[in-house]
Amino acid sequence: MAAARPHRWLRWPKNAAPHGRAPRLAYGADYNPEQWPREVWDEDVRLMREAGVNIVSLGVFSWARIQPGEDEWDFAWLDEVMDLLHANGVAVDLATATASPPPWLTALHPEILPVTATGETVWPGARQHWRPTSPVFRSYALRLAEAIARRYADHPALAAWHVSNELGCHNVYDYSDDAAAAFRTWLRARYGGIEELNTAWGTAFWSQSYTGFDQVLPPRLAASHPNPTQQLDFKRFSSDALKEYLRAERDLLQEVTPDVPITTNFMVMGESRGMNYADWAGEVDFVSNDHYVRPGAQALDELSFSANLTGNIAGGRPWFLMEHSTSAVNWQPVNRAKAPGEMARDSLLHVAHGADAVCFFQWRQSAAGAEKYHSAMVPHAGSDSAVFRSVADLGARLTRMAPLAGSRRKPAPVAIVFDWESWWACEQDSHPTSLLRYRQEALDWYSALLARGVRADVVPLGTPLDGYGMAVAPILHLVREETAKELVRYTEAGGHLVTTYFSGVVDENDHAWLGGYPGPLRELLGIRIEEFAPLLPDERVRLDDGSVGTLWSDDLTVTDPQVEVLASYADGPRAGQAAITRRATGAGSAAYVSTRLGSQGLAGVLPRLLERAGVSGELPPQLRGRVEVAVRADDGAEYWFAVNRTAEPVDIADLGGELLDPAGAAEQDGARILPPRGAAVLRRPIS
Ligand code: GAL
Repeated sequence: MAAARPHRWLRWPKNAAPHGRAPRLAYGADYNPEQWPREVWDEDVRLMREAGVNIVSLGVFSWARIQPGEDEWDFAWLDEVMDLLHANGVAVDLATATASPPPWLTALHPEILPVTATGETVWPGARQHWRPTSPVFRSYALRLAEAIARRYADHPALAAWHVSNELGCHNVYDYSDDAAAAFRTWLRARYGGIEELNTAWGTAFWSQSYTGFDQVLPPRLAASHPNPTQQLDFKRFSSDALKEYLRAERDLLQEVTPDVPITTNFMVMGESRGMNYADWAGEVDFVSNDHYVRPGAQALDELSFSANLTGNIAGGRPWFLMEHSTSAVNWQPVNRAKAPGEMARDSLLHVAHGADAVCFFQWRQSAAGAEKYHSAMVPHAGSDSAVFRSVADLGARLTRMAPLAGSRRKPAPVAIVFDWESWWACEQDSHPTSLLRYRQEALDWYSALLARGVRADVVPLGTPLDGYGMAVAPILHLVREETAKELVRYTEAGGHLVTTYFSGVVDENDHAWLGGYPGPLRELLGIRIEEFAPLLPDERVRLDDGSVGTLWSDDLTVTDPQVEVLASYADGPRAGQAAITRRATGAGSAAYVSTRLGSQGLAGVLPRLLERAGVSGELPPQLRGRVEVAVRADDGAEYWFAVNRTAEPVDIADLGGELLDPAGAAEQDGARILPPRGAAVLRRPIS
C-alpha cells in the first residue's frame, strides 16, 4: 500500500451552513449551473438552504464554458456562482474541470483521443475522451487547472479541490501510440533490461522473445491469447498512468494553494476494477468515493461492502461520499426508482462505514443530455415532490448527527482481504474457467458474515491483520513470497486464516508456483493439489456436510496429519476427497475451501470456522441477519449504526445506547422500532 499523506479534511468556510465551522457532516451534490439560465441559480441556492445542503462539487464538466477557445477564458459566470453559493452558506469542492475536453481542443489536437485494443479511435461526443498518457492533453489540462486554482485560491467558499472526475471511468485502457511509449518507459523502470522483461513475461513461449524495448506493445488485438504477464503489467501500468496524472494535477494545486485539501472521486463499486485504489489512496488528502446500487439479491450487501472497503482504504479515517443517487440512474438496462426510505438508508449505510459526507449526482436533474433520466436532489417535477421532501428530511437528519463527525471506524473482529492484483490476474483469459468472479467470492463471504451478525472489515492486502481473530482471503491467486511469509506469521501469532480455491497459484509475474498448488501456501495449509477440476455452469458437487459447491473443485490431498477435514466431496469424480480443510498452526490455523459455496451455502461451514477462531457475533441472536451493525468511535462515545436489512419493522431495544437522531426509530413502551429500510444511530458513551 502507498504511504499515506497526512489526512486533511475539508476547509470549512466560516459561514458554512448550518453551524459555521463546528463539526458537521457534509451534504450536497454535483452542481452544474451552466446547464441552467441565471434565474434558476437563485432558486437553487434557496432550495439548497431548505435541504440543509452545505457543500457542492462545482465545475466538474465546465471546461467548454470556462475556456471557450485556446486563449479565451470566461470566469465571470463562475465568479458569480462561487459568490452566490458562499453568500448562502454553501461551501465548494471545486473541480479542476479537466474531465471532458471541449470540441475546440479535440479538433485542434485529435492525437489526444484514446484508441481501443482493436485500433478504433474513441471519438469526442460523450466525455473523458482523452489519453491518460498524452503529453498534449496534460499540458492543456494543467493549464486549465492552474488558471482555476489561481483564480479561486483565496475564495472564501473554497473547501477542497476535486481533481478531474472518476479518473479511468471510461479511459483506463488506452492502446494508442502514446500509451505504447509510456508503457515502454514504465517497463524499463520496472525491469531495467529487456532480458529481465523476457524472463518475467515468459517469452520463451510462442517465440515472443524481444531484443529491444522498442518492439514491446500494449496488448492490442492479437491472433490468440496475448501474453498473460504483458496483460497483467498493462493493467498495472494503466492504473499507474492515471495515478501519475492525478499526481500531476495534485502537485500543481498544492503549489498554488498549500492549505486546501485535494481529493478525487474513486469508484469502489461493483466490477469497477481498473484502478488500484488501495495504491492511490496515499495520493489524496482525503478519500472520496462514488457508489451506485445495482439491483439484485445482494444489492445492499454490495453497498455495505464497497463502503466498508472505501473506509479501510482510507485507513479508518472519515471519507467523502461524492456521488450516489437519490433514486434511479440512467445507465442500467432497467433503471429502478428507489422505494421510500431507501435513499436515506443507503446514505446512512455509507456514513456507518465512515463517510462524513453524503453527496449525490446531481443537484438538479438535467433537462437535456444523456443523463436527463438520472435522478437528482431536485427532480424534473421540482421541489414539490417526494424526492425533494426526502432530500430535505435527510439533510435535517444529518444535521442532527453532527456529533459523530470525525469519528473513525471501529475495527471489526474479522477481516476480508481484498487484492487488486489477484483480481486482475485470476480473471484473465486462457484459465481453467472463465466463470470465476473474484469480487463476487469476496462479497459472498461478506454477505455470509452479515447474515450471522458478524462485523467484518474489507481491507486491502498489506493491511496488518494482527488485530483480527479471523482473516478470509478469498481467491488469493497471486501470492508473493513475502505475502506467504506474512500469512504464516499471522497464523503463528494466533490468527485464523481462511482461503479458497485458485489461491496461491501464481507469483507476481503470473508464473505458476511449481510442485503442486497452492504453491507457497501448501505447507501452511497442509494440503497439495495436483489438478484443478472446475465445474460446468450447471454442474454441482455435494459435500458431506450438506452444502453444495459450484464453479470449482480440486484434486486435493491432505499432506499433514494435523489437518482436520471439515467437509469432503460426497459425489462426483472427487467423492471421498477433502473439500474443506483446516490446519492448526501454533496458536492459530489455516483453512482452505476448495469450491464455491455462495453466500447462502457458506452458512454451513462459516459457523464452524468462526467458532474455532473464537469469533462470536456482537448482535443478540434475534437481530442476526435482520440488522447490519457498523460501529464508529471517537474519544467519548461509540456510534452503533443499526440498518434494517428486511422489509419488516425490527425492535432494536436490545442494542442499548441512546438515539442520536430521534427520526431513526420509534421508541415506545421500552421497544425501539426500526422501520422497514430504516437506519438509526445509537450513541453509547465510553466510560
Ligand atoms: C458517475 C459520474 C457522474 C454521473 C454519474 C451518473 O460515473 O461521475 O458525472 O455521470 O456517474 O450515475
